[in-house]
Amino acid sequence: MKRVCAHHASEAGKLLKERLEHYGYTAANLPQAAGVPSVLHLVSNRADALEATLKEKADMPLKELIRLFLLRRVLPLEQSIELLGAVVISTLLRLRALCCLESDFHLVNPEDAVKVIEELEGKTGEKRGFKIFSAVAWWPVEDLLIATDYGDTQHAAGEFEPVMYLSLDSYALISACPRDAVENVLDMCCGSGVQGLVALRHYARQATFLDVNPRALAFSRFNAALNGLHERCSFVEGSVHEDFLRHMGAKKFEVILANPPFVPNPDGTASAAGPLYSGGGHDGEEVHKISLQKGLTLLAAGGRFCSVAEVPNPESFPERVKEWVYQAGQPTGSIQIFTGKTIAAEEYWKAATQERSALEWNRYLSGLRRLGVSRVAEALVFLLQDGSPLSVDVITRSALWQDSEYLQTHVAHCMAS
Ligand SMILES: C[S@@+](CC[C@H](N)C(=O)[O-])C[C@H]1O[C@@H](n2cnc3c(N)ncnc32)[C@H](O)[C@@H]1O
Repeated sequence: MKRVCAHHASEAGKLLKERLEHYGYTAANLPQAAGVPSVLHLVSNRADALEATLKEKADMPLKELIRLFLLRRVLPLEQSIELLGAVVISTLLRLRALCCLESDFHLVNPEDAVKVIEELEGKTGEKRGFKIFSAVAWWPVEDLLIATDYGDTQHAAGEFEPVMYLSLDSYALISACPRDAVENVLDMCCGSGVQGLVALRHYARQATFLDVNPRALAFSRFNAALNGLHERCSFVEGSVHEDFLRHMGAKKFEVILANPPFVPNPDGTASAAGPLYSGGGHDGEEVHKISLQKGLTLLAAGGRFCSVAEVPNPESFPERVKEWVYQAGQPTGSIQIFTGKTIAAEEYWKAATQERSALEWNRYLSGLRRLGVSRVAEALVFLLQDGSPLSVDVITRSALWQDSEYLQTHVAHCMAS
């Protein structure tokens, strides 16, 4: 199998982005063209319903691209070459981001598929009825293109951990982070790498990506190369629970971004909290708490820690955050906490258990009650390490993550240097 180096992946990424932009596959255009409120609605588990809407809305090439890249549908090989070019399709096949099918269900070896493409291009081969599908979902994020697993890609604990699709929390952190130029950024719990890559694109010179899931680092590497940002990245496989930067010496970061898993999972009762990217321990705060505490020890003077998570019992969250900081033994800095949409525990089960069964709901709800969780709220936490005695300010709103304008205009400036 011919290996694809980062340089070639990056060249193919550039061509791919150009083609996609040409057809209107952009963050700004997709929702309206597809007739959905936001790009977050273009998810493969609703593909049937979405295809019906697409029929009426998007024009032909864009519709096919949405079907291929977000709804996990197949496309004839020849048509994919016509739309995106032979170089892009061949490179993505070699990278296994695209897969080729013969007779609708036999997977074709990528090198054999590339050979067929070369023959088609040289007009020496015949049409074989091959089709392609995308192994990953492709999200336009500002002018970046980010690959993730699909929202309905199944996890199998200890064997296969999917990489998180882009979600409202991902977009909220992207919008809310200040964009002042900095030397370096740490993307903790990086998943697809979207946070660190946006930082590299707009305000950071170097980025370090950390995740406990090796597949997440493979995606972060892939996305970095695809967007031509790979030369400014380093990747660390490890857990926030460990001394994950031990081999990097006493490194400090000017910005630390964290989108930890946060779904409460009392006694392992919530099916939606199964994947590594979602389950945040019994009360949902296990990884968030450690991320903030580790963040404090890794933050440069004047640096900023920014996290996004749903938090249980938002009214007592500021007190818990103070406690986390005191426990970390470094009670300095200015903290700003924003909380938004709040859901009663009785309702929260629907997302956390995916409404699978009344039994699961009862177990989950009684687990939350046992832990004293009555409500769960969306939140953003900013800590500016300005050396001042610890202070915590709280702003409560009815909507936070959904209000991208507020995030970009107000939140992103509240701690700008
Ligand atoms: C909510 S996803 C965030 C993905 C991405 N940063 C985003 O904003 O879309 C959480 C990520 O944390 C990772 N994770 C879970 N537990 C972790 C741990 N103990 N240490 C490091 N990463 C962890 C998961 O593998 C997953 O990629």
